[in-house]
Amino acid sequence: MIFGVLTGGGDCPGLNAAIRAVVRGSIASGHAVVGIRRGWQGLAERATVPLDRNAVSGILPRGGTILGSSGWNPYREDGGLEAVRAVTAELGLDGVVAIGGEGTLGVAHRLHSELGYPVVGVPKTIDNDLAGTDVTIGFDTAVHVCTEAIDRLHSTAESHNRVMVVEVMGRHTGWIAAASGIAGGADVILVPEEPRAIEDACDHIRRRHDDGKDFSIVVVAEGYSLTRRSGEQDELVVQDVDAYGFARLGGIGRVVADEITRLTGFQSRVTVLGHVQRGGTPTARDRLLATRLGLKAAELASSGTWGRMAASRGGEIVDVSLEEAIATRKGVPPEWIRGGRVVA
Ligand code: F6P
Repeated sequence: MIFGVLTGGGDCPGLNAAIRAVVRGSIASGHAVVGIRRGWQGLAERATVPLDRNAVSGILPRGGTILGSSGWNPYREDGGLEAVRAVTAELGLDGVVAIGGEGTLGVAHRLHSELGYPVVGVPKTIDNDLAGTDVTIGFDTAVHVCTEAIDRLHSTAESHNRVMVVEVMGRHTGWIAAASGIAGGADVILVPEEPRAIEDACDHIRRRHDDGKDFSIVVVAEGYSLTRRSGEQDELVVQDVDAYGFARLGGIGRVVADEITRLTGFQSRVTVLGHVQRGGTPTARDRLLATRLGLKAAELASSGTWGRMAASRGGEIVDVSLEEAIATRKGVPPEWIRGGRVVA
């Protein structure tokens, strides 16, 4: 058989490791693989690259994706769906492995459930918010980058009696904020799942300083909205809208820092980690996860088990339906959020 492999949505470290595993796993089972450029868009535009064992040699530790990526969606473009189906037939593809997050796998699910299109998914997003899997490719690396940044900010904060606010990614969920905040020993962690009132956060900061500490670290997820004790909540802070119509978040760090200064009188500084979180070499854990998930996807494709997503559950690699993966969003468990407050 011939399988296509594509990466869609925002890139993340570990995508190349997953591509390599899909290619080598499929070849080991006697099949061939074609790379599709820029996500679903490349399938509509017939933009492909041949992928053999050699083509994926040396890419394991490289960040980004050798195939390129985009948020192009065939259901939102005139003639998009027809083009995807026609090119799939022209290329003689027996199935497609789609490596992506909720957008890319949402398309995969619709294609499969509505048209019987042969597709399997591999979960990736630094946000870690896909359901059906305990963890997604890219999350561990992003947490590692953010934790290192928090460690560095500690040493400069201590020297100046300041509140350092670190804004991290996480559109709908606070996984990166919670994980890096706990690992980095943040004093306040602000996430969308249980938005803490800014007055409570300031009380905690004041108590610390009354107890002799002269700095505080606040980690805020970009998807947190400023919330007041009264229950009032501001709108999400949005920069603009991207080429595919999605809001580009970012800027809540500044809002939180200004409010902390206003309420406590302490000086504050803001660091927005931005796309640094998505760049660079994947951690060993992400390479291992990506390889295991990629091999599982190759196995599912080889056996013609379409409409499924490779997933990690309790340390085991299993498969779940694409439907389950995109039906809900996986948020940070309350235990993490409360635990983060207890140890702060
Ligand atoms: O979904 C992953 C993510 O990194 C989000 O955390 C962030 O809001 C978004 O992608 C940024 O996307 P872009 O690269 O299009 O700016």
